Amino acid sequence: MKLIKNCIAVLASAAVVACTTTTPSSSGPIYLDNNADIEDRIEDALSRMTLEEKIDMVHAQSKFSSPGVKRLGIPELWTTDGPHGIRTEVFWDEWEQAGWTNDSIVAFPALTCLAATWDRDLSALYGKSIGEEARYREKDVLLGPGVNIYRTPLNGRNFEYMGEDPYLASQMVVPYVQEVQNNGVAVCVKHFALNNEETFRHQTDVDLDDRALYEIYLPAFKAAVQEGGAWSVMAAYNLYRGQYLCSNERLLDDILRGEWGFDGAVISDWGGVHETDATVKYGVDLEFGTWTDGLTMGATNGYDAYHLAAPFREGIKSGKYTMDQLDAKVRRVLRLIFRTAMNPDKPFGNIGSEAHYAAARKIGAEGIVLLKNDGNLLPIKADSKKILVVGENAIKMMTIGGGSSSLKAMHEIFAFDAIKERAAQDNIEVEYERAYVGDITGSYNGVTSPYDLSDPRSAEELIADATAKAKDADYVIFVGGLNKSNNQDCEGTDRRSLGLPYGQDAVIEALLDVNPNVIVALVSGNAVAMPWVDSVPAIVQAWYGGSEAGHSLADVLFGDVNPSGKLPFTFPKQLSDSPAHQDGLRFPVRGKNYYNEGIFVGYRWFENKEIEPLFAFGHGLSYTTFEYGDAKASKTSIGENGTLKLTVPVKNVGSVAGAEVVQLYIRDVESSLPRPVKELKGFEKVYLEPGQSATVEFELAAEALKYYDDSIADWRLEKGDFIALIGSASDDIRTSVQFAVK
Ligand code: BGC
Repeated sequence: MKLIKNCIAVLASAAVVACTTTTPSSSGPIYLDNNADIEDRIEDALSRMTLEEKIDMVHAQSKFSSPGVKRLGIPELWTTDGPHGIRTEVFWDEWEQAGWTNDSIVAFPALTCLAATWDRDLSALYGKSIGEEARYREKDVLLGPGVNIYRTPLNGRNFEYMGEDPYLASQMVVPYVQEVQNNGVAVCVKHFALNNEETFRHQTDVDLDDRALYEIYLPAFKAAVQEGGAWSVMAAYNLYRGQYLCSNERLLDDILRGEWGFDGAVISDWGGVHETDATVKYGVDLEFGTWTDGLTMGATNGYDAYHLAAPFREGIKSGKYTMDQLDAKVRRVLRLIFRTAMNPDKPFGNIGSEAHYAAARKIGAEGIVLLKNDGNLLPIKADSKKILVVGENAIKMMTIGGGSSSLKAMHEIFAFDAIKERAAQDNIEVEYERAYVGDITGSYNGVTSPYDLSDPRSAEELIADATAKAKDADYVIFVGGLNKSNNQDCEGTDRRSLGLPYGQDAVIEALLDVNPNVIVALVSGNAVAMPWVDSVPAIVQAWYGGSEAGHSLADVLFGDVNPSGKLPFTFPKQLSDSPAHQDGLRFPVRGKNYYNEGIFVGYRWFENKEIEPLFAFGHGLSYTTFEYGDAKASKTSIGENGTLKLTVPVKNVGSVAGAEVVQLYIRDVESSLPRPVKELKGFEKVYLEPGQSATVEFELAAEALKYYDDSIADWRLEKGDFIALIGSASDDIRTSVQFAVK
């Protein structure tokens, strides 16, 4: 017989936790019998609950928890942000950190960086590591990962997502989900759905054709639910076709629960529930963060005013709502609790382990994308004498800020420190100059950067000081980009332009005037404009790397890690090239927001319109060279239910070991509806020693060749010719092979 451990928070303090252990007798209640079927346990628990207890189950009792049923020993459910590390503990009713001294964690790289690894194993490692940290912190639900599609480079929250391609995001989200949940911690996949901008996230009312919905915006959520087995999903803030997502009949009831058979709990985004009727009928199962009076700031008893509290309870009493409607929600919440808080097999987890730091560093380095490397300026040569590091992002904490993903990291390695540390091995002198002042603050809900970034120098003085030191350096490494402040990469706001802020373009130009060996490392979760792109010989996209950010960057700059990251989204040359900004479209959008570009998002748009991007989807260079042989198909044609094997030989013909992401795209030669020039349908990452070759294999099912046809409200497979295009990037196809669907 197994023991069941119930941890129940005492009164209104998240800090005080009492744990009791109960041993059910063989004749005890079914819901406490771990060996019983989970559905039987749910029905048994439900049958013992009063109306009041059921109502308590479907809304919050504090900022991040729901109460369970103490009388029955059903424990509280504790949620946490998500998605890059476990959020600091906050006060019971507030966003402000509670000041605990034992809630510092490892910050993992942002999800854009994870997506840029194009490595499913690293996604599994990420999920395992963050899942262990969540478990150790006694959390039941991790509020992440985010898989909203990268529709515009101005979306302030893109850094928390996995790029512009539904296939890439689907492939990368599944291992994360599975490994987090192996720890007895549920993921809460967010923000379902169509949450593609921030400023008016509570007011934007998205509409689009069904084809775009099914082909572009839903696949990663579907994969997380059906392949990953996600136990919870977060309903977004925005509206879709006039109805808030937290009470959206079509997306929650028809598609998520209906078409996909999702049996987990739908949790509201914090404050995303606005109405009782629709929420009762088809909305979320668990309501969090509703901003009823006083609740933004520390009131303790407003929770009964939630839509799924008193209004629901009184509605049942008066006959307006039914007990069945409530039971349906309670079942889902109970299922979530049995899978997490009452899971007797969940491990203990661990936090801040060497393994977690190593995972963060590895993912960070593997995700870094070498965008440009003229004359093989990188990696840094060991016989160099002097490096000048320039730029605020080389010394600024990036784990604090950006909204709910803000973290209290045990440490964060800065680029400057890591470069200095690594350069010392080769006796290279490293100096630093700031060159511009961006945002000197570093604070979020009470977690504040201990570094004083104020600087009394004028913009001219800052640049003059940097160029003076740059003149005789072998390399000038400019570490800039965006940061986690408002209107940068930050929840709740969007960027105002594609350009780099704080005059960084002028700094880069000034550095180039005195030294041609400028390396630009961009710390951001978004594409930026690069007016200097032709003059800068080496550019790396470094993302937000978390606790080990500096080490990851230094690993790549010095060649200890050969870069293999590939862009998970397109970098446009100018904003108006992006589909969401065509013809000067309004952005951000309050009210009706129609996605005119339909399925033509990201590279699908650029290729269709023949717009040359700055850097294409899937692009990323290496310190070695990979040669591709001819692709071969196992058959010349396949039937409707058939599969095709595609193979391609790849050889490392350079002098250093490295990994290549071999990408498979498909083109439909002729179709009734317009289709993209090509679409990603497979990728494999292969690691090759110098001179080594491998045959990369792809299994391609005819199913994957379908498109969604609004006129029949279903997927359609059209017979005819297709071309498999295999290469190193969406704009670097090396070999192709034609086949037919018959
Ligand atoms: C964010 C969610 C987050 C929640 C709880 C909301 O404002 O949109 O992503 O999980 O807050 O912090």
